[in-house]
Amino acid sequence: MVDYSMLEWARAQFAMTAIFHFFFVPFTLGMSFMVAYFETIYVKTGKAEWKQITQFWQVLFGINFAIGLSTGIIHEFEFGTNWSTYSWIVGDLFGAPLAVEGVVAFFMEATFAAIAFFGWKRVSKGVHLTSSWLLAAGSNLSALWILIANGFMQHPTSAFYTFNIDTARLELTDFMSLIMQPVAQVKFLHVVTASYTMAAVFVLGVSSLYLLRGKYTEFAKKSATVAAASGLIASIAVAVIGDDHAYEVANTQPTKIASLEGLIVGQKSAPIVAIGLPKTMSVEEIKNAEEGDGFTFKIELPGLLSILGKRDPGAFVPGVKDLLYGNKEYGIWSWDKLVAEGARAIKDLKDYHAAKKAGDLAAMKAANEDFHAIVANVDGTKVERAELMGYGYFAELPNNGIEHAFPPVAPVFFSFHIMVALGFWFILLFVLAYAAVVKGTYWNNKALQKAALFTIPLPWIAISFGWMSAEIGRQPWTVFGVLPTFKSVTPLDLVNVQATFFMFLVAFVVLGIAELKMLFTVVKNGPKGAH
Ligand code: HEM
Repeated sequence: MVDYSMLEWARAQFAMTAIFHFFFVPFTLGMSFMVAYFETIYVKTGKAEWKQITQFWQVLFGINFAIGLSTGIIHEFEFGTNWSTYSWIVGDLFGAPLAVEGVVAFFMEATFAAIAFFGWKRVSKGVHLTSSWLLAAGSNLSALWILIANGFMQHPTSAFYTFNIDTARLELTDFMSLIMQPVAQVKFLHVVTASYTMAAVFVLGVSSLYLLRGKYTEFAKKSATVAAASGLIASIAVAVIGDDHAYEVANTQPTKIASLEGLIVGQKSAPIVAIGLPKTMSVEEIKNAEEGDGFTFKIELPGLLSILGKRDPGAFVPGVKDLLYGNKEYGIWSWDKLVAEGARAIKDLKDYHAAKKAGDLAAMKAANEDFHAIVANVDGTKVERAELMGYGYFAELPNNGIEHAFPPVAPVFFSFHIMVALGFWFILLFVLAYAAVVKGTYWNNKALQKAALFTIPLPWIAISFGWMSAEIGRQPWTVFGVLPTFKSVTPLDLVNVQATFFMFLVAFVVLGIAELKMLFTVVKNGPKGAH
């Protein structure tokens, strides 16, 4: 029987590591390109002030780069210590993109980081500039491979993997399909554009601080001009790609999109709730819910969820109730039916292995055939019983684990809505800032400068909430529809997980304070030699 308390601690530990690690990663992804761009202007113009600009922002980028790298390694260990069942079952598949990341992107980053940070006086301008761009490409490539791995967890499809009945593990069958699957691609684009937005907010915000204090004004004006232009493009791209992201989620993870929008009962012309307070509902209450239920209060925009998720204002979007109790009209299976088919697949697997041990070839063949029998045809795609095996594990929980069958609505709803709201704020800020920079009014517009300064922490909040909506929204699965979270965890004693949780917490707090102190000191001291 699963120890839910230990599971929650293991999840909390992973979430803490992921959020802390992801305080650094997007800054690296964005700042690496920003620095390379500043350096390109320096090399093209040959003007010393652009070298000064490049080197100042590079120091801030470098501090973050070093700490970000070390926190990422903790992640990899946690797969082994806390999530060993997950690693054992999907390691052959999940490990492939991570290995490519290590061999290609990591080595690329390490090599060119050395030249970019320490090679100013040792290599020619051209070699240095090339290294800066390759460092940026390397860190962005690294994100690509990680997000391909995450894309597999969000949307595993038979296009790229198979379940080996003899080893009872997943195996990669088509590397290109794994790389090219739209969920992973859109994730990558959303994350990198979010990271470019973060870097632009940071550069604009710090430059605005200098303008407000009347210090380093020429330096600040040049930096802010580049930041306002790049931030405008990046923030619009985040929203456009985010819309595509939501479309992919709606078509691959129906329980997630229903929770992101708090849609309890499915409907045609489904609305987006612009502002609302979702209720915490028991499965009994969900079973008896009526269309529109699920909120204490809400302001909604009719038809928008159908457009977002199905690209059709009149389309039906299933709600949590449809996904738990089924909806015959739309061919949606109930949770109990999925669990029953999954449990039969697990029995087939056991029968197959028992027959194999006994050397009974006929029984092996029969179990294998039943395991791979076609049980459904969803929009022309045939679904094998084997593909539903993950649901079968829930049969060991009371009531088929139905109360764990969907993500908690309130945290997912709020994190998603805060991320989107901040996304629109970034667009507004950059539209105003860019227009003011072009007109030349930004330099005296104290209100806008203050707004940019106070926006500095907000991309970190948006990004953390983005991850929370993606990862809490994927529950109860580590690999959606394939491997439940409670089956992925290492069966450890609770005290071990609690002890390491607090150990990491202390380490992260110390590292976080050290990072912030260094960043503040560099910002306070300002660019060397500037006035
Ligand atoms: C403006 C409108 C936005 C929309 C429509 C949008 C849409 C989405 C969606 C649907 C997801 C969930 C993906 C999943 O569950 O797999 C997501 C995740 C995420 N979002 Fe946003 N987003 C927006 C703005 C932002 C902003 C401004 C940031 C940060 C600056 C951001 C950063 C993230 C991150 C880091 C994730 C998690 C990684 C991922 O799944 O791609 N988003 N976003």
